[in-house]
Amino acid sequence: MSQSGVANPRVEMAAVGRGSGDLPGPADVEYFSAAQAANWGETLRAFARFVALPPGLRVLDVGTGPGLLARVLLEGGARWVVGCDGSLPMLQRAAALAQGGGRQKGELSPAAEAPTARPASGQALESPEAAAGGASERAGWVAGDVRQLPFSDGAFDAAMATNLLFLLSNPAAGLAELVRVVAPGGTVAFLNPSDVMSVPAASAFMDERGVTGFDRFSFVNYARLAEEHYRLSLGEWQALAAALGLRDLRHQARAGGMLLCVCGTRAQA
Ligand SMILES: C[S@@+](CC[C@H](N)C(=O)[O-])C[C@H]1O[C@@H](n2cnc3c(N)ncnc32)[C@H](O)[C@@H]1O
Repeated sequence: MSQSGVANPRVEMAAVGRGSGDLPGPADVEYFSAAQAANWGETLRAFARFVALPPGLRVLDVGTGPGLLARVLLEGGARWVVGCDGSLPMLQRAAALAQGGGRQKGELSPAAEAPTARPASGQALESPEAAAGGASERAGWVAGDVRQLPFSDGAFDAAMATNLLFLLSNPAAGLAELVRVVAPGGTVAFLNPSDVMSVPAASAFMDERGVTGFDRFSFVNYARLAEEHYRLSLGEWQALAAALGLRDLRHQARAGGMLLCVCGTRAQA
């Protein structure tokens, strides 16, 4: 049994800081799993194509939720991927899905078969055995707060966060952590709603495309969440990224400009 008392050796429970916002419970796990299995999943796949990592990298996905982006990155040839989230139920779902299971299949392989991801130990992530394994063997799931990630400086070649930074009371603090855990020359990428995201704009966008049902509901709900949090413009995200040492910034606007993907390279020391 792990430190957290959870009988799941592949989910490492780190010290998640108190007051990390509205961390989701089990009901939200169902909601985000449904979203990632629907239209939102296509957005995450498009994000991965935009970032376009070369194969063989050590990648971190923070706020991974049910872990779709982590799985897409593994399919894309990442050496290994750590999915990190502040919510243990999310990580348990992510781990089960990476094993090819779903809600009912939560039994996981022994820790010895997993990438040796350990909180606060970037070096331990080096695992030739893991690198040679199949997709699920190359995934690790680590509980942690994006504002104080449990990894050492430069532990990853790339770090990303989709739909997380805008939720924080201080998005810069989360972005600074993504930059810190990436080695100089590594990639940092993130996706957030933009300053033009709103409930009316999202509703109109869905109506124009004839999108109905859960996809419409979840996108408008997302707009509602965005209205309650940060909606930074492209210029504001770029300024933040540049101030934190990211260079060669690229961006992609999606959904009529309501979604912003930004990618940059950590400056060499
Ligand atoms: C809106 S969901 C996005 C999930 C996924 N990245 C996606 O785009 O589908 C936000 C995720 O971030 C996690 N989260 C929220 N606050 C966090 C924090 N301070 N540190 C780490 N994860 C956090 C939540 O548990 C949730 O899984």
